[in-house]
Amino acid sequence: MSHSAAPLPLLSRKSQGLKGRVRVPGDKSMSHRSLMFGAVARGETVISGLLEAEDVVNTAKAMKALGADVERDGKGVWHVKGVGIGGLTSPATDLDFGNSGTGVRLAMGLMASTPLSARCVGDASLSKRPMGRVTKPLAQFGTRFDTSEGDRLPLTLHGAADARPVTYTLPVASAQVKSAVLLAGLNTPGVTTVIEPVATRDHTERMLASFGAKIAVVERDGARHITIEGRHELKAQTLDIPGDPSSAAFPMVAALITPGSEIVIENIMLNPTRTGLFVTLAEMGADIAYENRRSAGGEDVADIRVKSSNLKGVRVPPGRAPSMIDEYPILSVAASFAEGTTRMEGLEELRVKESDRLAAVEAGLQANGVMTHSGRDWLEVHGGGAPGGGTVVTHMDHRIAMSFLVMGLAARIHTSVDDSRFIATSFPGFTELMNGMGARIEAK
Ligand code: S3P
Repeated sequence: MSHSAAPLPLLSRKSQGLKGRVRVPGDKSMSHRSLMFGAVARGETVISGLLEAEDVVNTAKAMKALGADVERDGKGVWHVKGVGIGGLTSPATDLDFGNSGTGVRLAMGLMASTPLSARCVGDASLSKRPMGRVTKPLAQFGTRFDTSEGDRLPLTLHGAADARPVTYTLPVASAQVKSAVLLAGLNTPGVTTVIEPVATRDHTERMLASFGAKIAVVERDGARHITIEGRHELKAQTLDIPGDPSSAAFPMVAALITPGSEIVIENIMLNPTRTGLFVTLAEMGADIAYENRRSAGGEDVADIRVKSSNLKGVRVPPGRAPSMIDEYPILSVAASFAEGTTRMEGLEELRVKESDRLAAVEAGLQANGVMTHSGRDWLEVHGGGAPGGGTVVTHMDHRIAMSFLVMGLAARIHTSVDDSRFIATSFPGFTELMNGMGARIEAK
């Protein structure tokens, strides 16, 4: 990782209304996938709008180490010359996925049915996260793993030479697990099936289809059955990646809670498996308008106009969690400025993100004088405005850092975060973008 060795604390002060038109970086999920699918396609995949953040750059390096040719040109466009299905080879060095669960779990799937060996490592946060959810289904293809205690990183993967197709019902609502199994199916003869009882983000299905994979989705008894026929070559694509709704969430909530704000966030992807936060904010009374709706790269896209609003507390049902799984920290900040209580349910997966996000959010709220209650998989935030004044422990989690910097813009006393370095994993230029609209985020 390229982080400076020392933590970088930041503080965020009460701000005047935010104004401006901004663009947030490209979607992280689509960025990882475009590099990985390009790496095993035939021909040259050309990607514009790629998120140039540490998580994605680590995926680019891993694809290079596995034999693909990955280059960025002078205009910021990425070119991936793929090796074809089954063409990946053992890397000479460890694959370092840094902070990224998506990077390592999808790459494990991509490598699983090709006879290569690769040692996967990550930073202290990623090394605490569960990998058994991926090694278990991949072992059914014939892939072998030497894992660290508790199915964690570092681990060495030995891909299967004669992979067997698998039918797997997801035990957790995880797009990463779904994607790992589907990617293992790419180089497995026969049909691999994933049964998804609860829908999760579908970028893998959409993008694999656009690369020409033999992939099909049918709904049966309320579940999605996704089948992929292996050993068909993918065809290189030209892709333009729209803005990440999970990153747009930060300036959006900042504008909602900072009185006198009106901003436009341009070119945001609106895939319905990703927009649970926008639905929730609308229920809370947020003034959000979608302008210039269009289709780009197989996804709906729009410019989003946001005006500061008087929010009210709501109950967020558990079924909505997969479509806003990364947005609970920033929703909790919005909730602390709402009138009344917001109750969020179905949050068990927050425990195994870049940090235990339920615990980290609750501690951050309490440090800033916000009253909360919580259980194993739920959180209640009592609104009325955040007093602020606290320093939040970010636990190597970019979304915790950004959420509490947003809080400071509208809190009575400034807020601080102990370390902002990990913002670079998903949102390079966050502070500059926010300050360009009138936010007051500064070094501590
Ligand atoms: C992602 C899936 C989600 C999400 C992560 C990105 C993806 O994780 O939290 O930031 O790109 O597939 P899970 O699928 O494990 O919930």
